[in-house]
Amino acid sequence: MRRLALAVLLTASTASAQTPGELPAGPGRAETVRVCTGCHEAEVLIHRSQKHAAWSDVVQAMVEKGAEASSAEQTAIVAYLQKALPPQGSGGR
Ligand code: HEC
Repeated sequence: MRRLALAVLLTASTASAQTPGELPAGPGRAETVRVCTGCHEAEVLIHRSQKHAAWSDVVQAMVEKGAEASSAEQTAIVAYLQKALPPQGSGGR
């Protein structure tokens, strides 16, 4: 519960803290921008639109690299990315 409250707080306070690149608006974008643009541009995410719905794997891998996100934030980011940057050509490649 504390983590959820933190995520909400961060959403409110960082909504426009950084240039979001071309990431489309949507719930979870604030967390995504805050957590995922620390080491590379948001463009990395856009250019790497997942062929399969592998965002949870990507987020997990980034957390292992050192991305700082609570589990609530990770959930929000994965949900956001799946909606905002869906797999290209479902069923293909
Ligand atoms: C601690 C630094 C760091 C943070 C924070 C971070 N990344 Fe990364 N990311 C990297 C590095 C380093 C690479 C390139 C090297 C690699 O792919 O192993 C990378 C590469 C990527 C790639 C390209 C992978 C590929 O296979 O080409 C994607 C997509 C990505 N990051 C997504 C994210 C997302 C989503 C987040 C937020 C949850 C995030 N990153 C946060 C360090 C980070």
